[in-house]
Amino acid sequence: MSDVTGQQSGKGAGRQPGKGSEPLLKTGDRLVVASHNEGKVREIRDLLEPFGIETVSAAELDLPEPEETGTTFAANALIKAESAANEAGIAALADDSGLEVEALGGEPGIFSARWGGEEKDFDLAMTRVHEALEEKGAASPAERRANFICALCLALPGGERGMSDHRIFEGRVFGHINWPPRGDRGFGYDPIFTPDGHDLTFAEMEPQAKHDMSHRAAAFKLFVESCFENNGNA
Ligand code: IMP
Repeated sequence: MSDVTGQQSGKGAGRQPGKGSEPLLKTGDRLVVASHNEGKVREIRDLLEPFGIETVSAAELDLPEPEETGTTFAANALIKAESAANEAGIAALADDSGLEVEALGGEPGIFSARWGGEEKDFDLAMTRVHEALEEKGAASPAERRANFICALCLALPGGERGMSDHRIFEGRVFGHINWPPRGDRGFGYDPIFTPDGHDLTFAEMEPQAKHDMSHRAAAFKLFVESCFENNGNA
């Protein structure tokens, strides 16, 4: 088992997931996946599939990409979810996520996408992480500790920034940075991340194996318990 954690916050988050919190979603509802990142949209669609939710992505609706001015993953997820919910007029689910490397003081963190430059070149981003670790003399897995973090925000339309009914859920998965990159599944930094207790990188695993243990899956579990009728149980 990988070490995975999760927590809930946001307006309405005082309610315990599944305990007295009103369901915001039910089977048959339509939801915008507020991301232009194909890899993320694919993973979120896979996770939503069993719940009978009809999804449309921000890219498919040609929604504008709001500026991510937040200083935390949660703040950026809220900006994206509220913007998409208000533009589309239906509930929106946004994901802000990234890689935090301990020896680099948590970098690239909220700038994970930007380490790939304008071209979003993840070979470049992965090389930058590796070179930064080399500069620190961090060679062993113990010196190359890292985690992925995912903040998911579900927002309903009608609110101004920070004022909508929204809920935020965070999940993390811990592991280390391997080099060289291995595997061609997944996306982003997956080829250089080996989760604790496993030999394969996220990019070498079957997609379902990643879904079973990822930061996104941990946040998603809390989202389902809090936002679906009957805690997501049939
Ligand atoms: P943003 O949340 O759109 O700002 O971008 C987050 C960036 O973090 C992505 O572009 C990826 O590079 C990275 N990232 C987030 N989740 C994952 C994942 O599951 N695997 C690999 N990289 C990820």
